[in-house]
Amino acid sequence: MNDKINTRLVSAEFVAIADAALCLANGGLVAFPTETVYGLGADATNGAAVARLYAAKGRPSFNPLIAHVFDLAAAKRLAVFDAAAEKLAAAFWPGPLTLVLKKRAGCPVADLATAGLDTIAVRVPQHPVALGLLGRLGRPIVAPSANRSGHVSPTTANHVMDDLGGRIDYVVDGGAASVGVESTIVACLDRPTLLRPGGLPRERIEAVLEGFLDDPPAGTVDPEAPMAPGMLESHYAPHARLRLDVDRVNPGEALLAFGTKLPPGTPDAVLVLNLSPGSDLVEAAANLFSDLRTLDRSDVTTIAVMPVPHEGLGEAINDRLARAAAPRDGSREG
Ligand code: TXA
Ligand code: MG
Repeated sequence: MNDKINTRLVSAEFVAIADAALCLANGGLVAFPTETVYGLGADATNGAAVARLYAAKGRPSFNPLIAHVFDLAAAKRLAVFDAAAEKLAAAFWPGPLTLVLKKRAGCPVADLATAGLDTIAVRVPQHPVALGLLGRLGRPIVAPSANRSGHVSPTTANHVMDDLGGRIDYVVDGGAASVGVESTIVACLDRPTLLRPGGLPRERIEAVLEGFLDDPPAGTVDPEAPMAPGMLESHYAPHARLRLDVDRVNPGEALLAFGTKLPPGTPDAVLVLNLSPGSDLVEAAANLFSDLRTLDRSDVTTIAVMPVPHEGLGEAINDRLARAAAPRDGSREG
């Protein structure tokens, strides 16, 4: 990946989507918007394209990818649905929910994309550009978040250009991602288990299941554990240090605020951004990664973060903040 390639940044018009789909069909790499974050897509059935995708991201190849599909019928060609998975797909697809299921025999997704596991992560995204690409290509698209490994996920086309320009073929600009945090991941293998909190709140999933989701088994934060390698603590890693749940701002810090009751020291902050002045968790999720990128300037060594309530999308927001604040271990994921 030393030779820079010309990355085309195009707006999501019909012709551009058709051309980007053709690029995917020829083994190219296309970044595209979903409702959660921008994804970096490759034809899921093309092992060489998937290998190039890992190289472009700088991602360790043991981390399995989500296969994005056009609809439930396409998902069923890849994976085995139990009763819980059927219910969740019916309730929430298309939308910000990824299901980890048993891989179906004859599943056409390249083994490299599933890291050799006998399970597969699938989701039907709710974004016209993502669905347009899937419809044109007629095959599943594997797509991790379109950031360099160790960076926060991109919620705009410009974030993608900053991270991956010169390394991929296309960025299709469909505006800012509306949800702003990645999909919620639920494994339906035995008891339904929440592997990653995300854009669909736990409470809504539990309401449909009429029961509680299990939490990930102990050990999934272990980089060696194959169950959910993306659960590495330092998945999200800005350059600045994060100080969480602050009740005051120290001199020289930037502030990531939430709500109207700003802490003492705020006037002296280097820079202040508010996730949601009106304390709206949906708005806060949509702003999270973009605000982190803006605050993560070279002159900011520490970002002080106000407490964010834990209910609804707050679970995903607090999860991402905790990962961004975790000590670096040199084996970042993304
Ligand atoms: O919202 C999203 O999910 C975005 C958009 C682009 O769809 N995608 C995304 O992909 O966040 P990525 O690769 O950044 O995160 C996918 C997560 C990783 O943590 C990976 O380990 C986990 O899904 N995963 C994939 N397949 C898995 C499997 N078979 N078992 C357990 N975890 C799996
Ligand atoms: Mg990611």
